[in-house]
Amino acid sequence: MKTLVIVPTYNEADNVVPLVGRVRKATPDVDVLVVDDGSPDGTGRLAGGLAATDPQVHVLHRTAKNGLGAAYLAGFAWGLERGYEVLVEMDADGSHQPEQLSRLLEEIDAGADLVLGSRWVPEGEVVNWPRSREVLSRGGNLYTRMALGLPLKDATGGYRAFRADALRAILDGHVASQGYCFQVDLARRAVRRGFDVREVPITFVERVAGESKMDGAIVREALWRITVWGVHDRADWLRRVRSKAGQ
Ligand code: GDD
Ligand code: MN
Repeated sequence: MKTLVIVPTYNEADNVVPLVGRVRKATPDVDVLVVDDGSPDGTGRLAGGLAATDPQVHVLHRTAKNGLGAAYLAGFAWGLERGYEVLVEMDADGSHQPEQLSRLLEEIDAGADLVLGSRWVPEGEVVNWPRSREVLSRGGNLYTRMALGLPLKDATGGYRAFRADALRAILDGHVASQGYCFQVDLARRAVRRGFDVREVPITFVERVAGESKMDGAIVREALWRITVWGVHDRADWLRRVRSKAGQ
């Protein structure tokens, strides 16, 4: 299937070239789109250099840092317009192993609509993560499971493969999430629409170069949005129960 790996970047000058090289080596049939938000460190220029010599590498240059959600929405639109059948999300910093991409794609081939690379299933792991990040991720996933009732172990992760028709359906309507809660938003939409969502174990390796863009505002946005979605879902459920009882 015609596959596009979308890599959002903001100040990933030390990472973008080796990462794209690893993807091209591990899965030579797969195309790559770097979505750069005008990184001041020259990441967009480096990605442009790769695109100039490799017809399977593309760059979308955006002018302002508008968050992970907006960068992925632009990348998805680019890929869907061009007829890609599978669209993949991957971080630029080496945390997601391109060598494990085939695991996700095999599950798509086996019939899944959305495959999540999961740190928190058996054989999934994290390497070199500070204790504070592990607590945040485990806590975030526990809260997400409780608030939204999602049957997923790692709904916040950012290594995923979508079948194009499922992605199109999921993106129908406005997606307001800006930061990393974008990931929870898409997983929730997929589950609610009854798509086949599966998790496969991945090895998440903490970056060695550059800095995480995770900050307090991203965590706060995730907390309030997940809480609001949870309240809405429960209100929907109550309305359904009431109308059934009234019948
Ligand atoms: N274009 C663009 N614009 N890229 C961005 C932006 C943005 O505003 N913010 C982050 N990125 C890119 C980074 O350059 C990197 O390639 C990727 O998105 C992930 O950012 P990190 O800052 O490295 O994320 P993290 O390691 O802290 O978080 C990881 O775990 C989260 C929680 O599970 C990621 O995998 C997230 O996707 C995930 O939600
Ligand atoms: Mn990272």
